[in-house]
Amino acid sequence: MTSVSSYPLIAPSLLAADPLCLGEEIKAVEAAGADLLHIDIMDGHYVPNLTFGPQHVKAMKSVTNLRLDIHLMVSSPAVVTPWFIDAGADWVSFHPETEAHPYRLLQYIQSRGVRAGVVLNPGSPWQIVEPLLPVLDFVLLMSVNPGFGGQQFIPRVVSKVAPLLALKPDLIIEIDGGVNSENAPDLIKKGVHVLVAGSSIFGQKERIALKSDRTETYRAAINAIRGQ
Ligand code: DX5
Ligand code: ZN
Repeated sequence: MTSVSSYPLIAPSLLAADPLCLGEEIKAVEAAGADLLHIDIMDGHYVPNLTFGPQHVKAMKSVTNLRLDIHLMVSSPAVVTPWFIDAGADWVSFHPETEAHPYRLLQYIQSRGVRAGVVLNPGSPWQIVEPLLPVLDFVLLMSVNPGFGGQQFIPRVVSKVAPLLALKPDLIIEIDGGVNSENAPDLIKKGVHVLVAGSSIFGQKERIALKSDRTETYRAAINAIRGQ
């Protein structure tokens, strides 16, 4: 099992990175102080978008020491989970409504030495997590509807944090969608451990400002989210 040093962890979401130079983007966020790399896997069926396959994840793994956080937005997570673990996943989460046997899949993920998580959509109640607690390392709270980057943060989702932590105090809470330096301080205060951020790190405004040094641009964005 991978160990987590100090919270909050900042996880840049590669969905918002430049798809023509992903290797450079990954090296830049690593040098800039990212803690985890968030990789969105979409199958064009569970969500209306297509992204990366295991061959991409394997290639990403080869250029970084960052741990890989694989967010599965697919209709058959049990089929693809072994592919992504073989490719180098360190954390894997899936949407429980996509899987007939979520308890079994979480057990499988943990048996491979990988952190296991489920994802709650904005409309999913936190209570569905309760039966899964014995085999759960983390919960990923979607603060946008899954499928695309660059959407607006849905604040109501934050109300799920306290009851989840009351259920299991050592549960890791991750939040994903619309996270930026403005809403991050409140999320950290409420006990969120992992902040996923796509547009607010890799975004176009920053990209234009990059000029020659993309690492420094990303360092400023990551530090701003972390509250430094
Ligand atoms: C959306 C993805 C997110 C997305 C976040 O389905 O799960 O990880 O990349 O992007 P931003 O930070 O731009 O909302
Ligand atoms: Zn995601």
